[in-house]
Amino acid sequence: MKTIIEPFRIKSVEPLRITTRAQREAALKAAGHNLFRLRSDDVLIDLLTDSGTGAMSSLQWAAVMRGDESYAGSPSYYRFEEAVQSIFGHEFVIPTHQGRAAERILFAGLKPGQIIPSNAHFDTTRANIEAQGASALDIGIPESRIPSRVHPFKGNMDTTALERLIHEHGRDAIPMVMVTVTCNTAGGQPVSMANLRAVRAVCDRHGVPFYIDACRFAENSFFIRKREEGYAARTPLEIAREMFSLADGATMSAKKDGLANIGGFITTNDAARAAEMRNLLILTEGFSTYGGMAGRDLEAIAQGLAEVLDEDYLTYRIRSVQYVGEHLAAGGVPIVQPPGGHAIYLDARAMLPHIPPHQLPGQALACELYLHGGIRSCEIGSLMFGKPDGRGGEIPAAMELVRLAIPRRVYTQSHMDYVCEVIAETAARAAEIRGLRITAQPPSLRHFTAALAPV
Ligand code: F0G
Repeated sequence: MKTIIEPFRIKSVEPLRITTRAQREAALKAAGHNLFRLRSDDVLIDLLTDSGTGAMSSLQWAAVMRGDESYAGSPSYYRFEEAVQSIFGHEFVIPTHQGRAAERILFAGLKPGQIIPSNAHFDTTRANIEAQGASALDIGIPESRIPSRVHPFKGNMDTTALERLIHEHGRDAIPMVMVTVTCNTAGGQPVSMANLRAVRAVCDRHGVPFYIDACRFAENSFFIRKREEGYAARTPLEIAREMFSLADGATMSAKKDGLANIGGFITTNDAARAAEMRNLLILTEGFSTYGGMAGRDLEAIAQGLAEVLDEDYLTYRIRSVQYVGEHLAAGGVPIVQPPGGHAIYLDARAMLPHIPPHQLPGQALACELYLHGGIRSCEIGSLMFGKPDGRGGEIPAAMELVRLAIPRRVYTQSHMDYVCEVIAETAARAAEIRGLRITAQPPSLRHFTAALAPV
């Protein structure tokens, strides 16, 4: 059959609240033109993030009931540990309440002057490295910085740049190399097995540990199967195991490919590091057999990890995101190509050339999609990444993007057809959209709380 269907049926529904344009205008004004400040009840289709927003399966809800809330040694922990080890293969598993807690614990003890290279760090990863005084360095392949450039593995790391970096700064300055799969910052783009192998080889030559940011590992496995020679007959589980076998450890946000609403973990083969991290875990997250999660969360993740590598699920998942990308591109809407695993990124600079970067074209577009159709998206441009230039102005971000992140198993094809229609209509009257200016902002991470007004 040509039609790829959602490989599930719906047992429980959540009503959507349909609002009028006048209601949305009032809500957006009250939120200071900042979509993070909206009440989610005022949003029709919420594409702010794919993190923690997925629908759990009936088997996950059944597992939740089985959750054992013992403080130490809960059977739910052992089920969780086994599920993680059967995919990741690393010896030690450290549970955390979400991905950034895993990052904080993994990066504790970094020193100023040290550098953690990555294909591209996610913003919490970068912030946790920088909070220790160390530097987070993105060395993705050059193609990853050109939105319109098609490349099957646009998330790959530039291993020549990695080799050069280690030569220039010395092995002691690089406590680990990290690769994010799929690469969220580059547009949800996959990393090839060949690239992971090449990173491993550089790390081996210099004795540098290699960790994977594994948030969307199942989507990455599926892209390898579809696009990399020699993997068409391998199962997503086999591919995931091979990916992790190349690394010394991983950090994970179970809110993505754990198919859970909360949770995370660290895996490692390094016994000494595991012992240190467990001590820190007890200090900040909780005992080593729950680490900031309830027993029921551990159960939901154990079951989620079994479901996320299902071939029919992944076929539907990747295809349904591609479907949105293809429809938009066919209608002339500029997007980051090719579509990523979890999101479509609109190129607001190309769509709104009349709005200069300091008037935040990405945010202007995101606000317009909300006003026109009640869609909540996320600006990834100069509101998020603009930096003061020291002369009262700003250095704009490299790209002005709007991310439409698709929650897992939540929206149907007709929801997505509606999203495409809203975007096409907005694109048709792009010339009328006005820019924004910031009226109030905090000293850091301003996109979460800043207030804005139309110019
Ligand atoms: N790494 C990557 C690649 C991520 O995308 C995220 C979260 C994290 C780490 C942190 O995990 O949220 O559980 O603490 N990304 C979300 C997003 C927030 O919207 O892309 P967390």
